[in-house]
Amino acid sequence: MRRLYCATSPAESCANPALAILRRTMSANELTQVIIFGASGDLTARKLVPALFAAHREKFFPGHFQLIGVARRPWDDAGFREVLDTTTAKTKDHDQAAWEEFLGLTSYVQTHLDTAADYAELGRRLNQIAGRPANRVFYLAVKPELFLPSVQNLTSAGMLDQSAGHFRRLVVEKPFGTDLASAQHLNGELLKLIHESQLYRIDHYLGKETVQNLLVFRFRNAFFEPLWNQKYIELVQITVGETVGMEGGRGGYYDTSGAIRDILQNHLLQLVALVAMEPPATLKSKSIRDEKVKVLHCLRPLTDMPEVENHIVRGQFEGYRTEQGVNPASETETYIACRTYIDNWRWGGVPFLLRTGKHLPARYTSITVQFRMPPTTLFGSYNECHLRPNRITLRIQPNDGIDLDFDVKEPGSGLVVRPAKLNFDYNDYFHHKPSPEAYQRLLQDVVLGDQSLFIRSDEVEESWRWADSLRQAMQQTPVHTYPKNTWGPATADQLFGECEGRWTTG
Ligand code: BG6
Repeated sequence: MRRLYCATSPAESCANPALAILRRTMSANELTQVIIFGASGDLTARKLVPALFAAHREKFFPGHFQLIGVARRPWDDAGFREVLDTTTAKTKDHDQAAWEEFLGLTSYVQTHLDTAADYAELGRRLNQIAGRPANRVFYLAVKPELFLPSVQNLTSAGMLDQSAGHFRRLVVEKPFGTDLASAQHLNGELLKLIHESQLYRIDHYLGKETVQNLLVFRFRNAFFEPLWNQKYIELVQITVGETVGMEGGRGGYYDTSGAIRDILQNHLLQLVALVAMEPPATLKSKSIRDEKVKVLHCLRPLTDMPEVENHIVRGQFEGYRTEQGVNPASETETYIACRTYIDNWRWGGVPFLLRTGKHLPARYTSITVQFRMPPTTLFGSYNECHLRPNRITLRIQPNDGIDLDFDVKEPGSGLVVRPAKLNFDYNDYFHHKPSPEAYQRLLQDVVLGDQSLFIRSDEVEESWRWADSLRQAMQQTPVHTYPKNTWGPATADQLFGECEGRWTTG
């Protein structure tokens, strides 16, 4: 992870730390080709191209940059550029001149990814477009069934060979497997073909600003760090709430996935790992990933819980079964909430309550850490069995920031205790300086060769180990239907013990 300390006015390196590092590691003449497999897909238009455009506009690539789209459609370069021009999500301050310059750096190569014979031509075209030796990032924005054939074909064609001194890196989108066995198989096969250091398993949540801030917040602030354990913390709750449902024809995919595979196994467990990990020895990717994997390893399988129906609530929004592509008798969960534990020294006995759902009333992702009550001898039984006064909420999105809840004395002659709040908002504090989009940050890290914000093979397997236990245990619980625009099944409130508070909703 890039480390720079900028106390006050930014020097150039602080204004753009990534660029400063890159200039030290790549020469101004080097060429980087980003090759997107699945270039006709939705992710390319919505996320990848805008991210690369922003990086190019901010002059991230010190040398030269080219984008090559690869898919089955019979397009040529001009056709691809035309498609990008109409489908790419553009920002409000879209700069047309820069965009046209960027389009001039794009090309297209028609390829059937599962056909080995097509790779010789792909390799020839990449060399021809480059005109000289180039670094290459292959981004697999394709169906999971194509991950392995694509990498096998790239390897057989010698296209992942780095012996000439230029890097070959591979970015793999989620889902990485559908359970522990399939993830192990995929890891095993991929790692026969490519070194772990070339493999970037992406989870775009790790590119979000507030997610990255978790490390700074926890390990840079002396007044939080000493309290961050079971002695002082009573409960941690994490919500990834979404207002969206099956838009964009996602029903078919989602029905085979569900909330556990789609969000909980990856985005949400990454938040758990970052909030609960031990301080890493350094900010190098190995140290960070070593600590995260230990947390995932200690997550208690739901199948080990007695009365598992008291620890899991699964739901499905009303009307889900009539969505396009969804089985009319589907039991797939569009909402899941559970109570679990991290069985290690720091967290022993502290419940972690996790939930995610579609069609909730707000897009709201947050982590709330709730502290134990101090002795109540002085101020009587106020709040004894009510919401705990001391809480820290890390708001991931929207409106990234941090809230502190605490009690104060109400002004006046009596002694009345009232809850109060301190808020920190990134936008206000940093004068609306926009953060890079998650995909931009992550793509830049791939070029930098920094794997800290990517998932290592053992992390992905530990996440599936636990997610599988949840999926298995969930079979013992009913599917509750919930109306759209509500916070899911009402029974999810019962996951909290009597005096443990309730779900936060922003
Ligand atoms: C994706 C899921 O990984 O993350 C989607 O497949 C989900 O179902 C999306 O909507 C949420 O991402 P964000 O950044 O909008 O919170």
